[in-house]
Amino acid sequence: MGRCMCFEALLLLLLLCLLSRSGVSAEEDASTAPMENSEIAALYSVMQSFVGKWWKGSELYPDPCGWTPIQGVSCDIFNGLWYVTVLNIGPILENSIECTPEADFPPQLFELKHLKSLSLFNCFTSPTHHPTKIPTQNWEKLAGSLETLEFRSNPGLTGEIPFSLGRLVKLQSLVLVENALMGEIPTSIGSLTSLKKLALTSNLFSGQIPSSLGNLTDLLIFDLSMNSLSGTVPFTLSGLRSLLKLDLSNNALEGKLPMELGLLKNLTLLDLRSNNFSGGLVQSLQYMDSIQDVLLSNNSLEGSLMGFGWESLQNLTTLDLSNTGLNGQIPESIGGLKRLRFLALGNNRLSGSVPASLANLPSISALYLNGNNLTGELLFSDAFYEKMGRRFAAWSNPNLCYGVGLARTGHKPSGVRQCEQHEVSITSSNLKTVVVGDDRSPEASFMASPGFSASFVGEFWFVFFAKELVVILLLVLLL
Ligand SMILES: *[C@@H]1O[C@H](CO)[C@@H](O)[C@H](O)[C@H]1NC(C)=O
Ligand SMILES: *[C@@H]1O[C@H](CO)[C@@H](O)[C@H](O)[C@H]1NC(C)=O
Ligand SMILES: *[C@@H]1O[C@H](CO)[C@@H](O)[C@H](O)[C@H]1NC(C)=O
Ligand SMILES: *[C@@H]1O[C@H](CO)[C@@H](O)[C@H](O)[C@H]1NC(C)=O
Ligand SMILES: *[C@@H]1O[C@H](CO)[C@@H](O)[C@H](O)[C@H]1NC(C)=O
Ligand SMILES: *[C@@H]1O[C@H](CO)[C@@H](O)[C@H](O)[C@H]1NC(C)=O
Repeated sequence: MGRCMCFEALLLLLLLCLLSRSGVSAEEDASTAPMENSEIAALYSVMQSFVGKWWKGSELYPDPCGWTPIQGVSCDIFNGLWYVTVLNIGPILENSIECTPEADFPPQLFELKHLKSLSLFNCFTSPTHHPTKIPTQNWEKLAGSLETLEFRSNPGLTGEIPFSLGRLVKLQSLVLVENALMGEIPTSIGSLTSLKKLALTSNLFSGQIPSSLGNLTDLLIFDLSMNSLSGTVPFTLSGLRSLLKLDLSNNALEGKLPMELGLLKNLTLLDLRSNNFSGGLVQSLQYMDSIQDVLLSNNSLEGSLMGFGWESLQNLTTLDLSNTGLNGQIPESIGGLKRLRFLALGNNRLSGSVPASLANLPSISALYLNGNNLTGELLFSDAFYEKMGRRFAAWSNPNLCYGVGLARTGHKPSGVRQCEQHEVSITSSNLKTVVVGDDRSPEASFMASPGFSASFVGEFWFVFFAKELVVILLLVLLL
């Protein structure tokens, strides 16, 4: 036992000796995590700058990487000394440290030479009283270490993304979300070739998407949604071969959907909603083998759904094409999408009948067909309407109706009228209609002809219907 204690004492002595040699604070007792004086001073300055002058780090947290840890600060050991690697400030947890209204970026931030992750949440809050900008210089000092940079929900964070951020070559995640950042996205972001996630959502960015971003070959998530970006999508984005999620929604992007999107074989989400894309659906979309969610609503795409290889998109679960100016018919092949859960085709100019195959979509849980010019009878079952509830919409299709068979149940498509008997005869070769046609008046044979045009529906049929009402009622009662 004596030998053991002796050994420990020796070790301690050695350690102390080592620490004092490398200019480390040795005043604290030996159980303190050893740090360079400059590192500990930089940490205190940085914290004060974000949290406020009242924050007395040296008193409250004499051993920040050891027995007095600071909430949101993590450390790691490099060559026997402790360094700050993670700095998370903002109300994430109940006991998190929050920023002062006067928070600012301190120059000492760039002296934390092993900083891997910096996250400021809800830190710069006032765009009027204390607007703050991202520092334009010194980022290269963190180039060897910084992997995550995240500024989220900072309405007081204004100005542009500094070009020098492009020096952070180890950065894997750049998340600048819900701030008031503006100007163009600097081309230098394309130099961040380690990036896996780039999210610049909900800022005031304008101008074009830089073509250099196509160099980010490791990128998995690319989200520039809710900005004011304009111009076309650069074809270079086809270089983002690893991409899983592409979200450019809610901008002012225009032009055709790039052909090259078809090269993104691993893409699962494509969200281009609320832009000004035009030129129809691009054929190459059907080669996005992994695609699950296609959200293109609220664009002036136009074109048609026909002649598109829907059946190849077997993993498609969400297809939102509402308000895109689509015309033509709904193809039967959409009914072959086994995993489709959400299909929105509302507010277009679709015409023709609703394919019966849609009723057989095994996973469907929302189907919006409202605001089109669809015609004929909806061939869905009572159980289908019951299951879908308000997640089925077909109103505002003046020439659409639902089947007579549903008349006795409570589950009807809202805003759709019931078919009149003659309409049933056109869309389904129902036995009852043959009986109705028994009368063999010239009108009746016309009614049964397949070339019937929906525009013909009107007063004529009302008159006919009234005439035959008694007969039909009798038949229904008998059957
Ligand atoms: C990055 O992309 C730009 C524009 O697409 C290109 O000119 C440049 O050579 C690329 N840089 C690298 C390092 O690949
Ligand atoms: C696509 O995903 C597969 C499976 O996760 C992966 O093996 C492949 O490397 C990915 N392709 C690219 C280009 O990243
Ligand atoms: C549709 O997109 C335009 C921009 O193209 C936008 O101004 C409008 O608010 C969007 N509408 C909806 C309902 O999202
Ligand atoms: C959308 O593009 C069309 C031309 O393609 C243009 O006339 C229209 O003003 C654009 N709309 C918006 C909101 O930018
Ligand atoms: C489709 O989804 C299944 C299950 O999620 C997955 O195993 C398969 O690889 C996907 N297919 C493609 C082409 O991505
Ligand atoms: C709706 O379709 C009918 C033909 O089925 C056509 O006569 C009519 O013009 C269309 N209405 C609109 C608004 O496109």
